[in-house]
Amino acid sequence: MFNQNQSDQDDLFVDRENVNTPFNELLWKRFTRRQILHSTNIVITGFILQSLNIVEAKKSAQLHSLEISELEQGLDETLHVAEGHNYQVLLRWGDPLFKDSPEFNPNKQLPASQEKQFGYNNDFVTYTPLRFQNESSTNGLLIVNHEYVSSAMMHPGSPNAFKLTEQQVDTEIFAHGLSIVEIYIKDKSWKINLDSKFNRRITPHTKMQFSGPAYGHDRLKTDFATDGKKCIGTFGNCAGCLTPWGTVLTAEENVQTYFMGQANKTIEHENYQRFGLEGDATSKSFWGNYHERWNLKQHPQVGLHAGWIVEIDPYDPEFIPIKRTALGRCKHEGCDVHINYDNRVVIYMGDDQAFEYIYRFVSNKKYAPGDRAQNFEVLDDGELSVAEFTDQGTVIWRPLVWGQGPHTEKNGFHSQADVVLDMRKAADLVGATPMDRPEEIKVNPVTGTVFAVLTKNYQRNPLSINAANPRSFNQHGHVLELIPPDQNHASREFKWEVFILAGNPFENHNYAHYHSAVSENGWFSNPDNCTFDKSGNIWIATDGFYRQGSADGIWVSMTQGSQKALTKHFLRAPRAAEICSPCFTPDQKTMFCSVQHPGEDSSFDYPSTRWPDFNENIPPRPSVIAITNNQDKVIGT
Ligand code: FEO
Ligand code: CA
Ligand code: CA
Repeated sequence: MFNQNQSDQDDLFVDRENVNTPFNELLWKRFTRRQILHSTNIVITGFILQSLNIVEAKKSAQLHSLEISELEQGLDETLHVAEGHNYQVLLRWGDPLFKDSPEFNPNKQLPASQEKQFGYNNDFVTYTPLRFQNESSTNGLLIVNHEYVSSAMMHPGSPNAFKLTEQQVDTEIFAHGLSIVEIYIKDKSWKINLDSKFNRRITPHTKMQFSGPAYGHDRLKTDFATDGKKCIGTFGNCAGCLTPWGTVLTAEENVQTYFMGQANKTIEHENYQRFGLEGDATSKSFWGNYHERWNLKQHPQVGLHAGWIVEIDPYDPEFIPIKRTALGRCKHEGCDVHINYDNRVVIYMGDDQAFEYIYRFVSNKKYAPGDRAQNFEVLDDGELSVAEFTDQGTVIWRPLVWGQGPHTEKNGFHSQADVVLDMRKAADLVGATPMDRPEEIKVNPVTGTVFAVLTKNYQRNPLSINAANPRSFNQHGHVLELIPPDQNHASREFKWEVFILAGNPFENHNYAHYHSAVSENGWFSNPDNCTFDKSGNIWIATDGFYRQGSADGIWVSMTQGSQKALTKHFLRAPRAAEICSPCFTPDQKTMFCSVQHPGEDSSFDYPSTRWPDFNENIPPRPSVIAITNNQDKVIGT
């Protein structure tokens, strides 16, 4: 499967020989040689792959080649999908989720209404069949994150967030969190089951609990959670993943934008400074004006309650979500779970900020198929580590374990609780590689390799580039492929390669890198999320391309063979929207994805698009769509 012939490799790099900036020429020549060496090594190790997971994935793979009739790049008010496909708007901000939910009224939004309606700015989307472990592609649960709100897009009068009334703030709070909703196919279209017992809103007011090394720790104790074991609410939920035991992991990302007060006057000032949480100076939501739970003045340690990976069981509507502290605290973009060949559970995570790191967790306990009770404990005990990308093409996973290396009393770590609470500081001390904003990190089910999506980093300069982040002023972002030896995802050392350097490959100064046959519509900028189909093709969603004049969207490519990195334009977003979290039903005949912040370059009163309703009384609405193939075939064929 790794036996990619050498001429393909040469083809991929041939246009790079024309680079004319001396510094980059040097870098590229180094790169080219190393990449070719890698591919030779990979051919050898490819013969001794031992992972049962991968063998199983290959057995069940419905291999198909991509037959996309590419869209043209462009920018307009609506959404486009490649010829032969169609889409349905399944869930819009404000849509009812329960039988007694009020109808959406954009001019009369109330907290009590929003609590029972689909939230704002949907990001992560995943589908899981009903019942657990059946393979239904026509009846399942959709689990959706609502990452943040745009006040000027959400309320009449287009207010600034700091001018909101208490009622508007409370409405915005209930527009955050997650929606869980049962869906089914009838008459060839997806419907919402408003009667379902599984339908649930999880919000910043939902009761939650901690587990893992920081459970019950003094640093988590506040006036409203005196035992340090419980907390309230989740917000800033960006990406996530579905686990093999049927739960969802949701990642708390830009939580620094929710707290008010003066972080530098609190006992946690050092932690907050490294996290980038200042209080008033970084707050964008101003909830703390009305609710002291988001004010560091009243609750100086409450900022530590946010920035975690949260586990939720969508099959149990009463489940109390668990913040898994063993996975560390940072601006978690998302995570992916992989069952190693020896059944240890491996989690990959990105910390989405310029010059932050990529993390990994390897469980001590093993995944037990069919034993949900045991699987609910695997994320509480294991080894956390952080990635160092060497210029020689290796990834070294540096342990973040109390008592090892610099993680001792001398450096202020009194237990593993301090290591997970101060994860960025722990990572600084072991030489982790600062990356160009780590977004989605996912394991390809066919190749068993790990794809890390890095969206951009304008602050990277010639003095701070490294081989894994090779471009200064990285406007376009890139995708790396991490290769574990013999499919051992717990190994201390991996290899890495560049998969794509995004940007326009027809402009030499971008030093972009795709398959040499990529079309003028096949390139993109600012990769953010990705997913894989059962053939191992990567579907990449972007966020930020529209700021360069082309709509964001989805591009798809094979990840091995003669068309590796030959990306094709599959979906184009309406103006100013990003696309998040493409995911498939098991039969791959439906793809769900989020259309987040349509029209965000404008306002409620003067929107730049009114997608998806195109009704002059309704503002643009973030929505989840369901894409199908017109001939009832697998998406992308
Ligand atoms: Fe929420 Fe890193 O995007
Ligand atoms: Ca994202
Ligand atoms: Ca995003």
